Formats: sequence, structure tokens, C-alpha cells
Amino acid sequence: MKALITGITGQDGAYLARFLLGKGYEVFGLYRRTSTPNFWRLLNLGIFDKIRLIPGDMTDIASLSNAVIECEPDEIYNLAAQSFVGTSFEEPLATAQVDGLGVASLLTSIKQINPRIRLYHASTSELYGISESKAKVLLNEQSSFWPASPYAAAKLYAFHQVRIYREAYGIFAVNGILFNHESPLRGLEFVTRKISNGVARIKVGLAETLELGNLDAERDWGYAPEYVEAMWLMLQQDKPDDFVIATGESHSVKEFVEQTCGHLGLDWQEVVVVRERFKRPLDVPCLRGDASRAGQKLGWSPKIHFRELAELMVEEDLKRWNSYLEGQLFPWDAINDQLLYQGHSALLQPPSE
Ligand code: NAP
Ligand code: GDD
Repeated sequence: MKALITGITGQDGAYLARFLLGKGYEVFGLYRRTSTPNFWRLLNLGIFDKIRLIPGDMTDIASLSNAVIECEPDEIYNLAAQSFVGTSFEEPLATAQVDGLGVASLLTSIKQINPRIRLYHASTSELYGISESKAKVLLNEQSSFWPASPYAAAKLYAFHQVRIYREAYGIFAVNGILFNHESPLRGLEFVTRKISNGVARIKVGLAETLELGNLDAERDWGYAPEYVEAMWLMLQQDKPDDFVIATGESHSVKEFVEQTCGHLGLDWQEVVVVRERFKRPLDVPCLRGDASRAGQKLGWSPKIHFRELAELMVEEDLKRWNSYLEGQLFPWDAINDQLLYQGHSALLQPPSE
């Protein structure tokens, strides 16, 4: 089996690539040229040499079609996105291009090149937005959507495009409505990793405070490596369908700080400073998902829950900062430097050449 992953350099892309390699897949990744290499996650998981990178960008349909033709995939996992909700308020049009129109472009390429390709699309619990979440209800596949950010609006457009291509052209295209999922490979700007990294830095004496925004926001936080398995399971079904993936628990940002600080013996009230600039013009107060349908039909259920997740993340960041203080470069930084020296074109050769 061959799979093409867009967004392979991101958190989910890296874990999914490792998961699919473990299943014997040949894995291709759409790679966007950046001024500095961004392969630390793939290097950290030890899979950089096992995947094949194809240049492309979600805003360039010619490059998407080229990737589909070159890779001839059985499955495509569309994970690429401007995925940070805060940034979508500052860059709404760029977000719409990538997260909305980019998905329409990919669907068009699939329809034209090979409509038998199966497509997983990374949809999101952000679609539910504010209306339902005010009541702190458990959200499922039947709950209504009321997006509260340019990111969510773009993702809602993509959600419907996926459904429309499925119904109109019979393409096996599915939306995974995933609630927040985190890991030590999470981007530093997302709140869980911002906290685990910030708390670890305070613990080793590299910082004194941690600046955050809305401490009362509640999210349903799961563990990313478990969530990528659900993506794959959705594409192995007889019929295409959309599924919610979540833990069923919600916790506040304040609880996440308490848990990580408490684990390292710190008092969270002494280190956290609330700053207006980290608050959003509009914020979803609470998201909590009901994945029972995924449990019944996919056999998927979460194993790692809030407390364990917070602890494993802060421990990993503590380990990283301790090794930094011992004079070691983070291993993936060292390798990234080497790749930079070789030049980007060296990265795009198939591993065997
Ligand atoms: P992430 O770490 O931010 O990764 C995003 C990926 O998209 C990166 O590989 C990035 O490449 C790529 N990308 C961004 N713009 C692109 C463009 N114009 N063309 C091609 N690639 C582009 O996100 P993640 O947490 O892994 O999430 C994966 C997907 O799931 C996203 O679509 C996100 O919106 C969705 N989602 C995530 C969660 C969650 O809690 N993690 C929950 C629900 C849905 P660079 O490395 O070059 O920037
Ligand atoms: N990032 C960030 N930084 N968030 C903060 C901060 C801060 O300093 N302080 C409080 N928060 C609050 C945000 O206002 C939000 O309510 C909550 O913490 C979670 O923020 P993020 O971690 O940035 O995630 P998100 O829920 O907005 O979006 C993530 O999950 C979505 C699924 O629900 C992203 O991964 C999206 O791509 C994904 O679709």
C-alpha cells in the first residue's frame, strides 16, 4: 500500500508516517519548502530516511496533482493546514486558502487523476464553536456546528467539500472530527506544549514566569499517537463515514498548569502571569467529545488520559532542557543543521539514491 501524507512535518504527520511504516506502507510526504529545514519530528521518531518527500503546497493545485501522479497513492491523508486558531484571526485569508480552498484543490486532483484513492481529511472539533459548547454538552457526529474563528470557518468549508465529493462522485472521502490531541512533538505555540515547555524551563532555572491567556478555557485533550490510528481505521471501513475522536473528558487550561507544575513540585500561582495578548477575539469556552460511535464501528478508544498526558509532556520537556544545560544540542537540531549545510535539494532525493 502507498500513502501520501500532506502536513508530514507536523505533529500528526510524523506520528502517522511512523504508524503507516509500521503497517508496511510505502510513505510519501508533501513537503513545503521553508527557509530553514523543519524535519525535527521525523528525525526524532527515527523515520526521516524511510519516507519519500515530494515538493508541494496546498495553495498550488499543480503541485498537488503532481504529487498524486508521482506517488500513485492508495490513500491520502490530508493533514496540512494553518492549524493555529490564534493566527487565523491575524491571517484569515491565508488560512482560508490553505485550510479551505486547498482541500477543494486536493479533491479536484483526486477526482481527475484517480477517484478510487481514499481520502482522510483532518477536520476538527473547532467546527462546533460556541453555541453547543456553552452548555458543556458531549459533542458527537449529530451536534451542530457554529464556528468561532476564521480557522474553523475554513475547516467547515472543507468538511462540506469532502462530504459533497463523497455524495456527488462516490469518492471514499472522510472527515475525522478530532478533538485536541497533544504530545511532546506538539508545536510550541499550542497551550499544552507552551505550558509543559514553560514549566520545564522554570524548573531548571531558565525562566521565572509563564505568560498565558484564558485560563478558564476547557478542552478535551488526548494523546496524538493514538489519534493517528483512528485516521487509518476510518479508511479501512467498507463505507466512507465521518467520526468524532475524543476522550470524553474536558479540563481547563488552569488544570493543565496545575498538573504539570504539581508534578515538578512548583506552585502554579507563583509562576503564571495572565496577559491580554494571549487571549483571542473570540474563544470557544469548552469542547468535550463523545467518541462512542468510533468505539462501536472502528473499535477505537483512548488509553492515555489527562493526567498521564500532562505528566509525560512535562517530563519530556524537562529531559530536553536538562540535556541542553549539560551542553548537548537537541539531537534533532544537530541533524537539522547538517541538512541545512547539505542544502534542501539533497532532501528531495528518494532515500535509495
Ligand atoms: P501542525 O503540527 O501545525 O502541522 C501542520 C502541517 O501542515 C505542517 O506539516 C505544515 O508544514 C503543513 N502546512 C501548513 N501550510 C501548508 C501549505 N500551504 N502547504 C503544505 N503544507 C502546509 O498540525 P497538527 O497538530 O499535526 O494537525 C494536523 C491536522 O489536523 C491539521 O489540519 C489540523 O488543523 C488538524 N487538527 C489538529 C488537531 C490537534 O489537536 N492537533 C485537532 C483537530 C484537527 P510546515 O512544517 O512547513 O509548516
Ligand atoms: N495557544 C494558546 N496560548 N492558547 C491559550 C493560551 C496561550 O497562551 N492561554 C490560554 N489559551 C487557551 C486558548 O484561548 C484556547 O481556548 C485553549 O487554550 C486551547 O488553545 P490551543 O492549544 O491553541 O488549541 P485550540 O483548541 O485553539 O486549537 C487546537 O485544537 C483544535 C481542535 O479543537 C489546534 O490543534 C487546532 O488545529 C485544532 O483544530
